[in-house]
Amino acid sequence: MNDPTIPAPTYDDGVVRQFSLMAVVWGVVGMLVGVFIAAQLTWPELNLGISWLSYGRLRPLHTNAVIFAFGGCGLFATSYYVVQRTCHVRLFMPRLAAFTFWGWQAVIVAAAISLPLGYTSGKEYAELEWPIDILITAVWVSYAVVFFGTVGTRKIRHIYVANWFFGAFILAVALLHVVNSAAIPAGFMKSYSLYAGVQDAMVQWWYGHNAVGFYLTTGFLGMMYYFIPKQAGRPVYSYRLSIVHFWALIFTYMWAGPHHLHYTALPDWTQSIGMLFSLILLAPSWGGMINGMMTLSGAWHKLRDDPVLRFMIVALSFYGMATLEGPLMSIKTVNALSHYTDWTVGHVHAGALGWVGFITMGSLYYLIPRLFGRPQMHSVKAIELHFWVATIGIVLYIAAMWIAGVMQGLMWRAVNGDGTLTYTFVESVKATYPFYVIRFLGGLMYLGGMCVMAWNTWMTVAGGRAVRVNVPAPMTVAHAA
Ligand code: HEM
Ligand code: HEM
Repeated sequence: MNDPTIPAPTYDDGVVRQFSLMAVVWGVVGMLVGVFIAAQLTWPELNLGISWLSYGRLRPLHTNAVIFAFGGCGLFATSYYVVQRTCHVRLFMPRLAAFTFWGWQAVIVAAAISLPLGYTSGKEYAELEWPIDILITAVWVSYAVVFFGTVGTRKIRHIYVANWFFGAFILAVALLHVVNSAAIPAGFMKSYSLYAGVQDAMVQWWYGHNAVGFYLTTGFLGMMYYFIPKQAGRPVYSYRLSIVHFWALIFTYMWAGPHHLHYTALPDWTQSIGMLFSLILLAPSWGGMINGMMTLSGAWHKLRDDPVLRFMIVALSFYGMATLEGPLMSIKTVNALSHYTDWTVGHVHAGALGWVGFITMGSLYYLIPRLFGRPQMHSVKAIELHFWVATIGIVLYIAAMWIAGVMQGLMWRAVNGDGTLTYTFVESVKATYPFYVIRFLGGLMYLGGMCVMAWNTWMTVAGGRAVRVNVPAPMTVAHAA
């Protein structure tokens, strides 16, 4: 329980407000680019003959904008908010926290300029060139100092489980970024990877998969463990399970990277280890999902009229879906069908739109009114609208990609009696066309929902006044149970 003898502290929420608002802004921008490249895949003329509008340059702009700008700002905002509430202290070195905000925005702007201009290291999710990589390192080290400094100066002995997840995310991303981005500069904005050949591929996909595991999963699980109990007004279903969940997830993710390199020059046994650990990953992933879902025990009725809680619980359903599908796709024989097809893109967006997008949106809907001194968002109906438009959008997107992916895989492997291929590649592209139109429409709906959120945020902020909020941590609820 909250100890009434401890005076309620005030918190540094300026930086939380800044990151929350920018998460909404970058969400709109990143998804707009996503819709545009989805349109380009459907109508290639939309390249417009302009090199910096070409698909190859805008695709990394999309992934960087949604993952690092939208997701990143959401993670900074929520981790800074949560660590203060659960440790009962203000942020450690608030000026350094302010630097992380401006530094991170500078990274995003540098990405938004350099990627369309064609500067790239060619490594997926690590495309940014070395000067920007150095800035990322400076921001990330500062982030670690602020976060762990705050945990280190806490007034509460116990470290609430959300902080374990945020902490692991910060440490692992630092390690991944420094190791994978190691390169020899060959001029301003040009460098060569320190690794070569198959080692380069292995390091890249050790990074790539753990970017999924620690960036797109562990950080957002930190959000889950704080905001779902808060929004539901219930203790975490099992605190013990959350600790088992943490250690099992952290240990297993690190070994699964080679499933991105099945049937390549990577030694076969390495691929098998990647597959094995991917299959094991199902257990901690589902353990965590069930823990989040069951937090609603006795409060399921709240889902009927609380659209914010609905965002969070549906996020968990998509998390469960993506983490069932991932292990399945890591089985070599399944991967032989799915790899290179749109099935992978469907899997990615089940996780990205459903899990990462929805848990962030739900958490921001919880945060924004509190940060700006409003009892709730300007329009609850608009949250409801956002939820339905976005959910239908996701279903259209991922169903279209699943069907297209399996169809492509089957067409590419079909052979005639005499051993010749049944279909040319172009025939498979032509057959995919209707599904690209459906994906474009689904994406447009998801973007539409995000624009509704931006409007709602604007109206909430414009109508409110910034206040310091003192909210007890969910840990207190958990302990009370
Ligand atoms: C148990 C958990 C998971 C496992 C075992 C897993 C496994 C896989 C596999 C086997 C692939 C296909 C690799 C290929 O054929 O190239 C893949 C791709 C991918 N997955 Fe997952 N996945 C999991 C969860 C997730 C989640 C929750 C997300 C998103 C939030 C996600 C995001 C991605 C991304 C972005 C790619 C594409 C990487 C690329 O080629 O660029 N995965 N995953
Ligand atoms: C309006 C919503 C969105 C649309 C229309 C959209 C569209 C697209 C398209 C067309 C691609 C390229 C697929 C290809 O190369 O075949 C793509 C890739 C990707 N998107 Fe999105 N996207 C959206 C939102 C998001 C969000 C919110 C995230 C992450 C939080 C995300 C993460 C990714 C990733 C990781 C890839 C690379 C996938 C891979 O390499 O397999 N997207 N997206």
